[in-house]
Amino acid sequence: NLGSINIPVYVHVVYSNAQENISDTQINSQMTVLNKDFGASNNDINQVPNEFANVVADTEITFSLAGVFRHANSRTSWGTNDLVKSTYPPVTPETHLNIWVCNIGGGILGYAQFPGGPSATDGVVVGPNYFGTTGYVSSPFDEGRTTTHEVGHYLNLRHIWGDGRCNRDDFVADTPTSDAPNYGCPSYPTVNCRSNDMTMNYMDYVNDACMYMFSEGQKERMRTLFVAGGAREAM
Ligand code: ARG
Ligand code: ZN
Ligand code: CA
Repeated sequence: NLGSINIPVYVHVVYSNAQENISDTQINSQMTVLNKDFGASNNDINQVPNEFANVVADTEITFSLAGVFRHANSRTSWGTNDLVKSTYPPVTPETHLNIWVCNIGGGILGYAQFPGGPSATDGVVVGPNYFGTTGYVSSPFDEGRTTTHEVGHYLNLRHIWGDGRCNRDDFVADTPTSDAPNYGCPSYPTVNCRSNDMTMNYMDYVNDACMYMFSEGQKERMRTLFVAGGAREAM
């Protein structure tokens, strides 16, 4: 057992206007959400239905802000082809989670690279209005859960529906098989593939207010990255 794992975080704020140049307060509000969500100390954790309560996980992964870089740039949307990362390269991605906060465009809230990819593009990208809980934030994605979701990918989690139909897997046993993303705020139970979907998992596509747990199986999958010889290291 590795005990508590801390991941230091660099935030790159890339802005084309004053609104996108989010405040330190907004950045800190996102750090607070990450630590609450990964620690199962989020205040909505008690909404998890009984069926899943026994697999709610405190991942024992924490995040600390190591630095903020600010870059003014006239580009107003950055897409999902990692242009922002080649323009402003990640800083020590071997040991740090790099998060670029910039407008992606196309209605995309955020995107991430899975472990094992090129170090030059390692990290996650999140739109400024989906980052944190205060300042320039847009409902219903104003509770910082886009970053929680993307950091889940960064730590090897797949979507709970396995990006396929009922026969595709997310490689996590305790997240029931699902058919497709759920959106909005689904009522419980939402039945697909003859089981109740864990719609309240951070790795579904529901509104921020309607996702509030990682599972024990997801915790295991994430933490496996940090064992000796694993794909990630932490400080
Ligand atoms: N990559 C997903 C997207 O851009 C992120 C979804 C995050 N969901 C959320 N409720 N914050 O669509
Ligand atoms: Zn995703
Ligand atoms: Ca599963």
